[in-house]
Amino acid sequence: MAPRLTLNLRRATAEDLPFVMAVEATPGHDAFINRQPEAEHAAQLASSAFAYFIAEAPPGTPVGFAILSDLTDTRGNHCLKRIAVAEPGRGLGTALFNAVTDWAFANTPVHRFWLHTLAGNARARHLYGREGFTEEGRLRQARPRPDGSREDLVIMSILRPEWQARRAAATPA
Ligand SMILES: CC(C)(COP(=O)(O)OP(=O)(O)OC[C@H]1O[C@@H](n2cnc3c(N)ncnc32)[C@H](O)[C@@H]1OP(=O)(O)O)[C@@H](O)C(=O)NCCC(=O)NCCS
Repeated sequence: MAPRLTLNLRRATAEDLPFVMAVEATPGHDAFINRQPEAEHAAQLASSAFAYFIAEAPPGTPVGFAILSDLTDTRGNHCLKRIAVAEPGRGLGTALFNAVTDWAFANTPVHRFWLHTLAGNARARHLYGREGFTEEGRLRQARPRPDGSREDLVIMSILRPEWQARRAAATPA
């Protein structure tokens, strides 16, 4: 497991939505994540099915965001809907990913924490696999591209016992 950067994780407020939307609009991110208008974000932020997080490093300086969804699913399948950092490649995404995964297992009854990612998003798939997520399968040609072609989505997840075992192994005796 990669060493963790120190990161401050906090719940987002409506005042954070311009930052969330600015990160969504980061050049290059559009190949990998969707963008949503502020009204949609605001509705999701107000919904108990969603949780919005801001990562700060150092505290007070936002560097990324994550959105959890499906939190009202009664069968324990909660979703990491979106994650992005303003400056990829510095380890912040790993720290944020682990922080929101830990939050989900510590604060919700989730059993299977899942996500989907574009098959061509090699960086994200590498990170998720390194952090213990297993590829479950593909949604073939599920995502249309702007040029009219289509791309597979890869479903990945970690189960509560798997997360517990990883965190126990990472805790010094
Ligand atoms: C995905 C994302 C959140 C990851 O955050 P990050 O800060 O860039 O990630 P980190 O620096 O912590 O780790 C990136 C890892 O991917 C690896 N990597 C980078 N480019 C890669 C590539 N093309 N193929 C495979 N691995 C790659 C890095 O080497 C690193 O792994 P390592 O530490 O084991 O060497 C961030 O890149 C991002 O915001 N991307 C745009 C939005 C996005 O794709 N979101 C995910 C949608 S599912």
